[in-house]
Parts: sequence; C-alpha cells; structure tokens
Amino acid sequence: MLLQNCLLGDRHVDIRVLGGRYDTIVDAAAPLTPLPGEEVLYGGMVTPPFAEPHTHLDVVLLGRRVANRSGTLSEGIAAWASLRDGLTREDVQQRARTVLSWYVGWGTLRVRTHVDTGNLTAVAAMIELREALKTAEAPAELQVVAFPQEGILRSRGARERWEEAVAMGCDAVGAIPHFERTAEEGWASVRLAFELAAKRGLAVDLHCDETDDPGSRNLEVVCAEAIDRGYGELVVAGHCTALHSYPNPYAAKVIDLVAASGVQVVTNPLDNAVLQGRYDSYPRRRGLTRVDELWAAGASVGIGHDSVVDPFYRLGTANLLDAAYVLIHLGHLTGEDEMFRVFRALHHDNHRPWGGPPPIAIGSPATFLWHPVPDPIEAIRLRRRPRVFVDGTEVLAAGP
Ligand code: FE2
Repeated sequence: MLLQNCLLGDRHVDIRVLGGRYDTIVDAAAPLTPLPGEEVLYGGMVTPPFAEPHTHLDVVLLGRRVANRSGTLSEGIAAWASLRDGLTREDVQQRARTVLSWYVGWGTLRVRTHVDTGNLTAVAAMIELREALKTAEAPAELQVVAFPQEGILRSRGARERWEEAVAMGCDAVGAIPHFERTAEEGWASVRLAFELAAKRGLAVDLHCDETDDPGSRNLEVVCAEAIDRGYGELVVAGHCTALHSYPNPYAAKVIDLVAASGVQVVTNPLDNAVLQGRYDSYPRRRGLTRVDELWAAGASVGIGHDSVVDPFYRLGTANLLDAAYVLIHLGHLTGEDEMFRVFRALHHDNHRPWGGPPPIAIGSPATFLWHPVPDPIEAIRLRRRPRVFVDGTEVLAAGP
C-alpha cells in the first residue's frame, strides 16, 4: 500500500507499507512511484490510532433499559445501582463487545475501562474479556480499572469488594474520594488507593472531584501522594470538575501541583457538560476542568468519552472526535493551536496508560488511521470515520 501526499504531524509525506510494516517514509516533495498492483490512498491525514483513557464498558447500552428522567448524575447512579446486581457475565461481555466494535470503527484501538467493584461478576467478565482480546484476532486492547462507584469507606463491605476486584487482576486501582462521607474519608480513600496500587505494582486512576463543589479538594492529595511516592507517571485523575469552580488562587496552586507531580488529568466533556452545573440556576457553570490552564502549566491532559448510551449520558457514540468537539466549545479552545492540541490528545496524550502511541516509523507495525480530511481542524469539524489499519490490514468499520 502507498499513502501519497498525506499529512503526518506537520509535514506532507509519502508512506509505503509492506508486509504489515512501514517500509518507506519520504517527503511528499520527492514522491514515491506506485508499484504494480499497489493500492494507493491519496491525500488525507495519517495518525496513530486513537486511545480511550476513560470509559465504563460494564454500564454501556443500559441507558436503553432504564430511564434517567431528570438527566442528573444522582439519578444515573440510582438507575445503574438498580440494574447492577442482576447483571450476568454474558450480558456484560456482549454489551462491551458491541461498544468496543464501535470504538474500533471510530479509530480507537486501546480502551481503558472502569468497572464497578460493586459487582464482582462484572469485574470478572471484564478481565476475561481483556484476556480474550489478547489472544483473538481482535484489534482492540483493554485495560481495567477497579472503580468503587459508591466509595470504599461509606458502606460496609465496599472496601473488601474493591480489594478483591483488584486482586482478580485489574490493571489500575480506582477511587471516588469526593463521594466518600467526609473530606477526611475522601483523603483516606486516596491514600488507600495508592497503597494498594504500590503493593501490587499497579497504576492509579481515580474519579477525582467530579462535582461543582469548590470545597472538594482531593486533587491536591492525589498530587502530593504521587510526588511523595514518585508515582506521577502512573497516575490519572479523571474529571477534576471542581477545579473549574475553585477560587483562582487555589486553582493556580493545584494546577502547579498537577504539573509538578506528573499526574495526568483526563477530562470527560460529554458527560460533564450535562451532569455538572445542576445545582446552578443562572448563570450556569460549564463544569469542565481547566484544560487551558493545565496546558499552560505543562500538565498532561487526556480526553475521555466516559459514557456510551448509559444511564448517565444517553448520547454517547464511542467517537472520540465528539468529545473533542464539545471540549473545544465549552473549554473556549477555538484557537488554532488549541484545536490542534485537542486533536493530538486523542492519538498521543490519551495513550499514556500504554506508555505512548504506537510509532509511525520505518520498521514499526503499520497500525494507523487514515483520515479523509486535510488537517486536524477539519477532522474535528466534520468528525468523519477514519479508515483503520492494523499491521497494514484494513479493519472494516462497525457500529453507528
Ligand atoms: Fe467515569
């Protein structure tokens, strides 16, 4: 296969793929000549595949089974809790596989999913699915986070289930400190998560301060733990929407801590655009974390999709370009460089849980996306389906 005159980073190149690997990459000003019978794709843009740093595959598609009449986070949690205990392994895996095929169809080949440790059947199902994806001819990779949706300290048995879920073979330890009963218990839950992760050599990935309450101050504790343990590169703090509402002097302090710690913040613009600001009348807060200020301080920011047709958010598509589109709008990120940076997050920063994106370099496996648009801004504006190639072979698109 020959990719002619495609945008790769900030230059136009010709790329030849042979035997499933990148064989030649040259400046498009000195073009390659097609070989006899060689498939040619002209123009467009080539990137590594997208990665999804934050989703909930155990909950996907359940929005069709139970209504969230208010559209609020609290009713979403209640709706999920009403279904959670009755889930079977087959049901969890079937829904997860369906949505994974949607992700792949939209160019996402790595997915980190949180799984609610309130149902160990779902945890087992997700770990089994992760292992099956390693051995099958599956284009997607999975990481599983042990996520205690209803906290680890606020109800009896929750901590034990969370610890058991981690022991079953999760890749990362989760927590939800803002949902614990008190600020002190929230901070304690953060420290427990780090202790458990360090004991087992796992990553940490918390739902952190997903609230509009400026008094929710767990992110600073996450950063302090990460610094003291030298753990920053293995830590993700998801949502961090309270940062939106902190007083500016305190926000500046926390953002400096995030940057110094190496903790990555993952913003989830689709869910938080509608789940936050619910206690406001008008003016109504946007409820996303401070992406521009985090960038300015040198912090790493990933962009998650979070929900796909679940009781929290019914409108998810598994297309990360939708999350990027909403983030740009609500984050006031319409500067040209900002839009480029948002797009780059999908195929670069979002790969941090895997140590970085697969390289587009001579000799490497040719796993990439070919976007039918001339540049990143057009990719986000039009949100067209990319063509997906794994080891040089095209994966046919699926799903909506
Ligand atoms: Fe989440």
